[in-house]
Amino acid sequence: MENKNKISGTTRVYAIIADPIHHVQTPGAMNRLFTERGDDRVMVPFHVSTESLQSVVVGLRGIQSLDGFIVTVPHKSAIVELCDSVSDAARLVGAVNVVRRNEDGSLHGDILDGAGFLAGLRQRDVEPSGMSVYLAGAGGAAKAIAFALAAAGVRKITIFNRTTCKAEALIQRLTPVFPAVELCVGSDDPSGHDLVVNSTSLGLSVDDILPLNVALLTSSQIVAEIIMKPAITPLLAAATEKGCRVLDGMPMLLCQIELMAAAMATNKNEQNHEYI
Ligand code: ATR
Repeated sequence: MENKNKISGTTRVYAIIADPIHHVQTPGAMNRLFTERGDDRVMVPFHVSTESLQSVVVGLRGIQSLDGFIVTVPHKSAIVELCDSVSDAARLVGAVNVVRRNEDGSLHGDILDGAGFLAGLRQRDVEPSGMSVYLAGAGGAAKAIAFALAAAGVRKITIFNRTTCKAEALIQRLTPVFPAVELCVGSDDPSGHDLVVNSTSLGLSVDDILPLNVALLTSSQIVAEIIMKPAITPLLAAATEKGCRVLDGMPMLLCQIELMAAAMATNKNEQNHEYI
């Protein structure tokens, strides 16, 4: 609430679009950054369903005090087609998580999740190069993370998703770009992999099922989350019980917060990604 008393008619507005929205941590982190910098900017949460996404985005184009918005679960893939232009990385990955609104109302999308996730791993001294990775999920965040891990030189990625055709589609996207990486569709069994990543939205709600079979985890595995709230998800709690090293989801956000702010600032050059 640091920005509460500073909002005025000149304040530039940023949004985060999600469904559900209760869990989002970006407004807190972004508003802290704005306050530290003394920026006349504020980020607010917009709870938007899949059915309403298109009409909301049309309306956002007309809000002249809006500079941009963050896009998260479950809209990261659907938003690509609603932007006027996207970065090369976003086109390759097939997902967008940050959108800049230009002065003429046009929208430019970029994807920073992969860079954020990778930076979060490295911040905790986990170097994925050469690792075998089990990835649960094949949505927008999963696609970004898969591309970033492949670019970082992982040996193998096994993808498990409720909707199998999405895992297959992700492999088809990755194969021509990373022919040296072994790619396969997996089951709920994460055994035999060095790094286990949950990139589904499972864990956001208390009644969610687990994203994978935790009984098959072994203590030599590292288990990483993209869920930020709760910090210790049922998956991470179960992995800790099994003796695994666990990495929570917060660094993925914190490592991309400044990049997000830059991506939404008008007239900024596109950022470079390792895989393009
Ligand atoms: P985001 O863009 O934030 O990544 P998303 O594209 O909707 O969000 O992806 C959500 C991921 O969580 C998907 O892998 C989704 O599986 P499906 O592709 O089968 O939808 C997964 N997911 C969400 N709810 C799930 C559930 N109840 N059981 C299993 N997987 C689920």
